[in-house]
Amino acid sequence: MLAQVCAVLCGLAALALLVRARFPDFWSEVFYLKDLLLALVRVLWRRRLRPPFLAVDRFEEQVARQPGGTFLVFERETFSYSAADRRSNRIAHALRAHSALRAGDTAALFLPNEPDFLFAWLALAKLGCAAALLNDNIRSGSLLHCFRCSGAKVLITSAELQGAVQEIIAPLIEDEVCVFVLAAECVSAHMQSLTEKVENVPDSPIPRSLRATVTFSDPAVYICTSGTTGLPKAAVLSQNRLLAALAVLASIGVTGSDVVYVTLPLYHTAGFLVGFIASVETGSKIILKRKFSVSQFWKDCRKHNVTVIQYIGETMRYLCNTPKMENDKEHRVRLAIGNGLRADVWKEFLTRFGKIKVREFYASTEGNVGFFNYTGKIGAVGRVSFLHRKLFPFALIKYDTERDEPVRDANGRCIKVSTGETGLLVVKITKLAPFVGYAGNPEQTEKKRLRDVFQPGDVYFNSGDLLKIDHNNFIYFQDRVGDTFRWKGENVATTEVSDIISQLDFIKEGNIYGVQVPGQEGRVGMAAVTIKEGAEFDGTKMFNHITKHLPSYAQPRFLRIQSTVEVTGTFKQVKKKLVEEGFDPAGISEPLYFLSAQERRYIPLTEPLYTSIATGSVRL
Ligand SMILES: *[C@@H]1O[C@H](CO)[C@@H](O)[C@H](O)[C@H]1NC(C)=O
Ligand SMILES: *[C@@H]1O[C@H](CO)[C@@H](O)[C@H](O)[C@H]1NC(C)=O
Repeated sequence: MLAQVCAVLCGLAALALLVRARFPDFWSEVFYLKDLLLALVRVLWRRRLRPPFLAVDRFEEQVARQPGGTFLVFERETFSYSAADRRSNRIAHALRAHSALRAGDTAALFLPNEPDFLFAWLALAKLGCAAALLNDNIRSGSLLHCFRCSGAKVLITSAELQGAVQEIIAPLIEDEVCVFVLAAECVSAHMQSLTEKVENVPDSPIPRSLRATVTFSDPAVYICTSGTTGLPKAAVLSQNRLLAALAVLASIGVTGSDVVYVTLPLYHTAGFLVGFIASVETGSKIILKRKFSVSQFWKDCRKHNVTVIQYIGETMRYLCNTPKMENDKEHRVRLAIGNGLRADVWKEFLTRFGKIKVREFYASTEGNVGFFNYTGKIGAVGRVSFLHRKLFPFALIKYDTERDEPVRDANGRCIKVSTGETGLLVVKITKLAPFVGYAGNPEQTEKKRLRDVFQPGDVYFNSGDLLKIDHNNFIYFQDRVGDTFRWKGENVATTEVSDIISQLDFIKEGNIYGVQVPGQEGRVGMAAVTIKEGAEFDGTKMFNHITKHLPSYAQPRFLRIQSTVEVTGTFKQVKKKLVEEGFDPAGISEPLYFLSAQERRYIPLTEPLYTSIATGSVRL
């Protein structure tokens, strides 16, 4: 073990001397990256421990270190590390006694942001089980699909979500799934109250031997990423990835005395890894919120002495859009971690709310590389360092957006873009940068692998993201291939919109894309939707839901009602066809609707209305 760490360090030192002449920035890079390097050493160190040291073992270390320290604050409740430990022990005992769940199995968590989400996850981790985190907004077919992807045999849900599980109970019974509800009462005889069982078991520690068979390549967490296909995919995070996340996230400046405000959903990487897992590493206090709320944000920060906040681009914009207050700068927030922050919002945020260190990063849930902005260059997601290139060989390659594939030369090889040019990020798949793929979906997994990139037989991870590197090695996120479009200067994530649309009870599936409107920049949102059997399209309900949950730029202005989802060919082709057909009723036989802000509902899109929109007399 020690020998290995020494070898790594000596190797790095030798490398350092060699490259010093060619890379004058080298030492400043090492300075910036020293925490990252220490983190790497820590990961290597832990990986050698037997029995295997998992993320949950770090939690147990924290419990031993500061049993009375606050782990979590949620609404009016406060949980110490010891209380959280005991509660998760009880859940683990109950699960073990009342289900067949054993190390190596998977259970799905279909829970809102609440303490039991974390306790149930800890319980599963203590048993050596993987957890599939299900988006609590998805319903019916998508929910079932996501659940099945993970191969879970146990589903844990909450009082408020059991109705959604009831909708899919028939196939769950068929698959012999064990459904537990964290409530005293269940709506169905096919569900069991976990609350009641938890009360009748001891809170004694779960022996580590129960998880001794778990290896680093085993799945730890499945995270559903809703793709363009409408059906989500389950990205697999291995134990190794979790361990790396633990160390890397702790290297970005969060410490044990920090108070971390977690408002993002725990079922996504941002909330789960950056909010929860990183706090387990550092031993910080978590202030958990059910949802992000603009009006409560700063009040909460002041009340709880929050020092670290998390963001996604939108949340920062919402905060900046509120009326200015005299006490805007009265808070203790010193660090903001997240991604998707646009340069102008960033500047405004800093001017308005004071000197907060912003750590912007780029990473995808399933990807095998990440970039961090260590330097403070507004607009960039990070800086490409020499070490980074060595450890994670990546390239930006030319991409043909029309044909939706990388450009290849006469020999069939991909072509690197020149400095300052935008290209598709591809990352060599290696031992250090593995790509695990999607659970139960070899097809989608293979699609993310790009072969014969620069040499016959080489394999790269296709990030699907377009990035740019400038002459000073700063790296900038530009766009997502296929998944996003821009409207009124804002990126619209189609997945986010389809998540919202699929919450409507009459919608079966929604496929979101952008269409061009004559005389307008960018593309405006359009949704091709299918209606559930026996249900009817309700233009008013749809309007209310969409305008309530989506920012104006992301609201689909046009709807196209399809009787079936086209399944032939790759989904991209289907989407491409829809984009090409646009919203002209003359060329489309299916019913079309238009979001009328005036009438506050979706109204049928007629030929005269189409003409008014196309000529600009009806403004969008
Ligand atoms: C926040 O800090 C102040 C001043 O140090 C302290 O009086 C207060 O109790 C703290 N509040 C919480 C919730 O920790
Ligand atoms: C990078 O971080 C610095 C300092 O935290 C910040 O000022 C800068 O705006 C960041 N750049 C980007 C593009 O996020």
